[in-house]
Amino acid sequence: MGAAMTKTPPKTFHVKSFGCQMNVYDGERMAELLAADGLTATADAAGADLVVLNTCHIREKATEKVYSDIGRLRKDDPAKMIAVAGCVAQAEGEEIVRRAKVDVVVGPQAYHNLPRLVSDAVKGEAALDTDMPPLSKFDALPARRKVGPTAFLTVQEGCDKFCTYCVVPYTRGAETSRPFAEIVDEARALVDAGAREITLLGQNVNAWSDGDGRGLHDLIRALDRVEGLARIRYTTSHPNDMTQGLIDAHRDVEKLMPFLHLPVQSGSDRVLRAMNRSHTRDSYLRVIDRVRAARPDIALSGDFIVGFPGETEAEFAETLSIVAAVGHAQAFSFKYSPRPGTPAATMEGQIAAEVMDERLQRLQAAINRDQLAFNQALVGRHCDVLIERRGKQPGQMLGKSPWLQSVHLETSAPIGTMVSVELGHAGPNSLTAREISAERASVAAA
Ligand code: 5AD
Ligand code: SF4
Repeated sequence: MGAAMTKTPPKTFHVKSFGCQMNVYDGERMAELLAADGLTATADAAGADLVVLNTCHIREKATEKVYSDIGRLRKDDPAKMIAVAGCVAQAEGEEIVRRAKVDVVVGPQAYHNLPRLVSDAVKGEAALDTDMPPLSKFDALPARRKVGPTAFLTVQEGCDKFCTYCVVPYTRGAETSRPFAEIVDEARALVDAGAREITLLGQNVNAWSDGDGRGLHDLIRALDRVEGLARIRYTTSHPNDMTQGLIDAHRDVEKLMPFLHLPVQSGSDRVLRAMNRSHTRDSYLRVIDRVRAARPDIALSGDFIVGFPGETEAEFAETLSIVAAVGHAQAFSFKYSPRPGTPAATMEGQIAAEVMDERLQRLQAAINRDQLAFNQALVGRHCDVLIERRGKQPGQMLGKSPWLQSVHLETSAPIGTMVSVELGHAGPNSLTAREISAERASVAAA
């Protein structure tokens, strides 16, 4: 790859992650690998000898951003080493080297080889690895060290569902689950390193299975017994994999937070079929009913796509009506973006940009209304807030409620403390709160 020219070995690095939380996790693991290899992390890309762009391929905009970032980095410092990791690396491979001069290309299943690829690039050798050996990378990663109060833990990767709009089955490969014991060990290590809350990650996290009949709920129940761990979350789930066992865990497991991200994408059965979602509007709503029966206060989140090929105004109205039926605590909505190689990209009836813009605006207005209503309904409630960082005002701290809302409060409790509060004013994106009591410092520091 590139001219066979040797480079100065990098001493400092910066990892920049785009896209989903799995990429955030992968970015942290790459940083740990490079640190274990003797490199020092820098706070920004400008000062680093090596920049790792950990990329997202999910929508065209995300992909194009990578190329503009590479261009900017190269212009500022032609000698800087650039590694492209993540889903764009997987999807485009050699094409990135042709389009933009980068030193390393490494896919999401091969990033444990990053240090070797960097030294290959230093020697002027080809440094591209987009192999997909199932999960062997986890064996090759260094132990977890210091982390903040909230941590991600990837337990499952890949997707077998093949929704017709989505690149994930191609960039992340087939559904694979990490072994039970390995996950519990990593959770313990994260708690020892300072985590109080762990979010289990997977493209289809609720499809996690150990092959011996154990499912995600068994994993959650095992983590429930990890001392020092206060909160468990998981994301992203598929409606068809919402087992009764998992729903029951929402009723029984106190550490499992009352929050569920369960994308429905559209409220129209015709569109859902064309998307190959394998659930219907009705089967989705029945899952929601069962979850709410188990955990009435659960905060529901979701993903929506507007302007899927062929979507009519009447079909879009069904999306608005499913939003009204569910009443989300928050949700993400996107304009359909044709992805190369996916079946939907060549479907007839691609929707004009202006139509998508207008639908997205109406959908987001509806979601924002529901989000504010959800927040307002909790005013006056007592709950715990896990302090995550300092706020903008002196004495103000920021944390999360059990329902994943951002909460601002005045407290002297340090980061990582669980504070018992009464929720006060509710805005669309956050709430204020009054401290009732905080854990004693010795507990917080444990
Ligand atoms: N265009 C627009 N949005 C998409 N998503 C996935 N693929 C596409 C696409 N081609 C959205 C889905 C998914 C979320 C992660 O991104 O809503 O749930
Ligand atoms: Fe983006 Fe999907 Fe890759 Fe995550 S898995 S980075 S959302 S393409």
